[in-house]
Amino acid sequence: MSKVCINIAWPYANGKIHLGHVAGSLLPPDIFSRYNRLAGNEVLMVGGSDQHGTPITVTAEKEHTTPEAVAERYHEINKKAIEDLGIEYSLFNKTYCKTHYEVVQKLFLDLLGSGYLYTKQTDQYYCADCGRFLPDRYVEGVCPTCGAVDVRSDQCDSCGTTFEPGDLKEPHCIQCGNVPEVRQTEHFFLKLSAFRERLLDYISDKDYWRSNVKTFTQNWLNEGLSDRAITRDMSWGVPVPVDGWDGKVIYVWFDAVIGYLSASIEYSNIIGRPDYWKQFWQDQEVKHYYFIGKDNIPFHSIIWPAILMGEGGLNLPYDIPANEYLMFGGGKLSKSRGGSIDVPSVLKKYDADLVRYYLSINMPDTHDSDFSWEDFKVKVNNELVSDLGNYYHRCLSFTHKNFGSVPDAAPSEESAEVMEKIGSAFKEYSELLSKCDFKKALKSVMDLAHFANKYFDSSKPWALVKSDKDACGRVMNTNLRIVKALAVMSWPFMPRSSEKIWEYLGIGGTIEECGYEGLAAPLPAGTQMKEPVPVYKKVEFEDEKEKDKAKEKGQTPAAGAEITGPFADFRKLDLRSGTVVSVQDHPDADKLYLLNVDIGEESPRQIVAGLKAYYPREKMLGRKVLVVSNLKPAKLRGVMSSGMLLAADDEDMGGSAVLLLTPSKEVPNGTKFSSGMDSSSSRIEYKDFQKTVLKVSTVKDGVFVAGSRKLESAEGCPLRAAAVFDGDDTVLLTDGNGSVATVDSEIKDGAGVR
Ligand code: MF3
Ligand code: ZN
Repeated sequence: MSKVCINIAWPYANGKIHLGHVAGSLLPPDIFSRYNRLAGNEVLMVGGSDQHGTPITVTAEKEHTTPEAVAERYHEINKKAIEDLGIEYSLFNKTYCKTHYEVVQKLFLDLLGSGYLYTKQTDQYYCADCGRFLPDRYVEGVCPTCGAVDVRSDQCDSCGTTFEPGDLKEPHCIQCGNVPEVRQTEHFFLKLSAFRERLLDYISDKDYWRSNVKTFTQNWLNEGLSDRAITRDMSWGVPVPVDGWDGKVIYVWFDAVIGYLSASIEYSNIIGRPDYWKQFWQDQEVKHYYFIGKDNIPFHSIIWPAILMGEGGLNLPYDIPANEYLMFGGGKLSKSRGGSIDVPSVLKKYDADLVRYYLSINMPDTHDSDFSWEDFKVKVNNELVSDLGNYYHRCLSFTHKNFGSVPDAAPSEESAEVMEKIGSAFKEYSELLSKCDFKKALKSVMDLAHFANKYFDSSKPWALVKSDKDACGRVMNTNLRIVKALAVMSWPFMPRSSEKIWEYLGIGGTIEECGYEGLAAPLPAGTQMKEPVPVYKKVEFEDEKEKDKAKEKGQTPAAGAEITGPFADFRKLDLRSGTVVSVQDHPDADKLYLLNVDIGEESPRQIVAGLKAYYPREKMLGRKVLVVSNLKPAKLRGVMSSGMLLAADDEDMGGSAVLLLTPSKEVPNGTKFSSGMDSSSSRIEYKDFQKTVLKVSTVKDGVFVAGSRKLESAEGCPLRAAAVFDGDDTVLLTDGNGSVATVDSEIKDGAGVR
């Protein structure tokens, strides 16, 4: 048994983590950690939210809030998403953490003391219009290396080049668009050049590194190492621990990589063994792995090792298995088929293990891989469900039904072929996993499942049970041994479903306790089994499900007899046009307005709306809006709200716009808007509203651009329109008299309405 330290790249807390993060850097370490745990090793696995730097402050400015609020909000969301995925860190920490600040400042001062830091006047972008220095993401321009446009001033995401101020071509301020000037400012520099020889020596025995990592690092070192500024002119971050440096902070990358160490220390404090981290960081026998995306390579193969060398006495990275990118068909996310790709949305629809399966079998480990919901469905249904899931269920339900408990074992010569197969599959699998070759390791599990199905078929237990029940029992005992081996071997990839299989076997303990050591051990005959339920469900997209249901009932949705799905939910809404007649601040909530909206009733409706970040008061007053008028009144932060304004929101698609829907032609207050189908007038709950599928998109030649869905009626339709849709049917939201629900400025096609 040995110790392993697994370090995971820290996602920025400026948005929800999405499938790209999962496939790139979050899932591989969890597989690797579980593999190590089953092999009997002790794992320390750390990472967390990267909460500093311009990624956070830019987002905060966009959302009219503080960096702290953004950083904490997304930390909580992402922490939960990671748990929901079954990814088990020792500690998922955050950089806005006292221990972290202390460790970063200590290392900073240590390096300063050993002469590895020095100050220098340097060029820095400065925007005269905004009156401030522009660090990193506040400036965009053209990459001098590869020519990519709109790259940020700290790093090119296309070719990986990192920049110093002044490197970028055609720079402009992202806030105001002006060309920034370059001014002098003083910063601390890390003397990277001093580490060149030691770094060359360090990588000289890293033949086992993935070729992308090795090549990238070698090239950097060959080009000679330039010293890098490690402070910035901004106030959000770890303060520079030197007198007279107020208003400047430590550069986010310098701070984040130190997070690996500070999180290990924080974890040790939490478990009440403050020196625990030393066993991992100071014992040279312990291997350190870093799981990252390819854009993070130089920070982990050069800068972090240099910092560690400068500090001394701490383990350097042993391996840095950087993944390539998961691509989304040219950057387009298919929201209409299967949903959006941020983790919380994905997990609302699909079990974590299905997602883990697909991202493992399609992992971008040696080259970019393509993600699509269609492919997700094909791989899950045709491989996971029909091979592994099917085998599990046939064996467990057949044995449970006919025997109730584990039947007597076959003599070893009868099960020899199967046991050999398990042995060889396991050997291949563990060699691959030890090298972080996850995709192939999972393939070897699936090959075993494939073999297992054939074995089951060829031994025909359904016939044997009638002719020779004892013989059948022996065959099933052998089958259950394969089930057990499969559950153990697939646990690193799909932990929860494997644990369920374990439970159905009834053999007690846990998979982790069994470990690889007990993988092939016989099952005790007579063990009471549990009635199994299939652990993997076929993926069916929402729109197809609705159609299938309608078909089963002999109806088509168009017949209208019993409409299900989005249309049905939509019909429950009573939508009315209205005018905002007064706007007040909510007494207890920063982001909320208290509105009075005239919807043609005796008195205006009081509505609480979270629009303060998007619309100033003067833009709200007098505005024409669309109101869901039959929502059950509810208190929002202590104030009654009797309705809701419809607004388009492209946040899920990576945008940040929230735009109110408005009638394209002026109509009297209280005019009913609908999709042409009768709508209800009875009260509905907010959760019913959430089920509706309403979208805004550009309309060209009668076609709703999001998903190329043809509009039922596009006459007189404005360029941008809101529509309800279900499968291939798209219906405009209108008053039936030429006024269509629209938004008055640009928004991403397919933005949802809520
Ligand atoms: N936040 C960075 C990113 O998303 C990764 C930081 S990893 C660490 O690209 F090394 F800094 F921790
Ligand atoms: Zn570039």
